[in-house]
Amino acid sequence: MGIGSSMRENSFSTTALKNVLEIISVKYNAEARLVNLQETEMPIYRPSTQSENENVKRITKDVSWANVFVLASPDYHGSMSGTMKNFLDYFWKEFSGKTFGYIVSSHEKGLTVMDQMRTAVRQCYAWSLPYGISINEREDLNSSGQIVNKKLQSRLEMLARDLVVYGGLIYWQFVRDKNTSEANTFAHYYI
Ligand SMILES: Cc1cc2nc3c(=O)[nH]c(=O)nc-3n(C[C@H](O)[C@H](O)[C@H](O)COP(=O)(O)O)c2cc1C
Repeated sequence: MGIGSSMRENSFSTTALKNVLEIISVKYNAEARLVNLQETEMPIYRPSTQSENENVKRITKDVSWANVFVLASPDYHGSMSGTMKNFLDYFWKEFSGKTFGYIVSSHEKGLTVMDQMRTAVRQCYAWSLPYGISINEREDLNSSGQIVNKKLQSRLEMLARDLVVYGGLIYWQFVRDKNTSEANTFAHYYI
């Protein structure tokens, strides 16, 4: 499941995200769903309130369905977009045991943005791939928003492959651990 969190039309980070989801579905024949928060807005998260918002209900179903996530964010002041943070605030158990990959659109590599998303994800007992993808609109895309940097394209393909392979291995081990009598695993907390 891919989460696009830029509120810009033709966002660079969401464009790269769509590229990865396309590879996942065409090359690896896996079901890939996109939630573009620019089109499917979520209200500001309110703790202890059961949201009646239709978008929230739909996204919650998709989040529970997914076993791998790709988070795509622009770099805003060295941080993830507020839209992304608000999305993450809605969930935690639904993320546990699942694997996350990261795409950041930035003029400065966006490493602090990835670190912050990783921190939030780790806090929810989820796993992160040990690298992220940084895109720079000035070098990587042409004026129509197509990816023209071959190295970037190759890294997006690697991200798609690693999410499918590692995401699958980790998720199924988590499910096995939840369903066995071995109690001393972190997965056992989720029974
Ligand atoms: C409020 C705001 C803050 C930004 N802060 C940074 C920043 O700290 N560092 C940076 O490299 N780019 C910054 N940018 C630029 C965006 O990260 C950059 O244009 C990005 O490519 C936009 O991605 P998008 O097309 O997916 O929205 C900022 C842009 C906005 C609107």
